[in-house]
Amino acid sequence: MNPVIDLLSSHRSVRKFTDKPVEESMFQAIVKAAQCASTSNHVQAYTIIRIKDKGIRKQIADLSGPQSWVEQAPVFLVFCADLTRLESACDMHGEKAQNGWAEQFVVATVDTALLAQNLMVAAESMGLGGVFIGGIRNDPEKICKLLHIPDNAYPVFGMCLGHPDQEPAIKPRLPIDLVLKEETFHGTLGKKDAAGILDGYDKTMQDYYLNRDSNLKDQTWRSQMADFMSRVTRPHMKSFLKKKVFFIR
Ligand SMILES: Cc1cc2nc3c(=O)[nH]c(=O)nc-3n(C[C@H](O)[C@H](O)[C@H](O)COP(=O)(O)O)c2cc1C
Repeated sequence: MNPVIDLLSSHRSVRKFTDKPVEESMFQAIVKAAQCASTSNHVQAYTIIRIKDKGIRKQIADLSGPQSWVEQAPVFLVFCADLTRLESACDMHGEKAQNGWAEQFVVATVDTALLAQNLMVAAESMGLGGVFIGGIRNDPEKICKLLHIPDNAYPVFGMCLGHPDQEPAIKPRLPIDLVLKEETFHGTLGKKDAAGILDGYDKTMQDYYLNRDSNLKDQTWRSQMADFMSRVTRPHMKSFLKKKVFFIR
């Protein structure tokens, strides 16, 4: 349709990289493009930490799973939602910062995600590949200690980047009629139609998982989601965020 649509439609996470380094000028251009993402009230409430130190990388890779690609990727980034600059602005102007509100948590987290997705797309436009790493939230306190992340900032996710050494198949997304509705939440799609469409998607995902290059499994989308939603994931996040004074009221 056009090169941007083509690029977005060809996204797939990459977890294996060649040894070729990512040129510094390319990396800087990618980060600058990422910074152009929309940002709530222009707060730009994020900080990206690039981690080159091999020892720290190994520790983060282990804490995240282990996930070997965190150690091996030419570039590894940690994206922090960050309100510290905003607090300094208040200090400078004699205002008392109102900290710990849920809305600030949403604003900073959304800003960080928009920046990161822009960064991924910019990287892909340069022929790089990558993968987000939510695994860093397995033990976010340790990540904060390792990377000296202060209160009023928290690590949302990591990202591996590099020149791809694999060509994974594109993972099929939900049919658009389930995601895009007209006028109200339920739109015009009946429950029966929705169930029928999901039956089809389950089959599509089952075929994908049975036939992709690696990590083959016999699973449908709904069986995967049932497994995911019936488990408690990272129950420490609430107390972690409260401790960081990030989300207390
Ligand atoms: C916030 C976030 C966290 C993720 N965390 C991980 C992770 O820790 N490890 C991993 O291998 N993939 C991770 N992924 C990648 C997803 O598994 C992947 O995007 C999803 O399965 C869709 O596949 P695709 O990106 O190849 O289209 C994460 C993705 C997002 C958006």
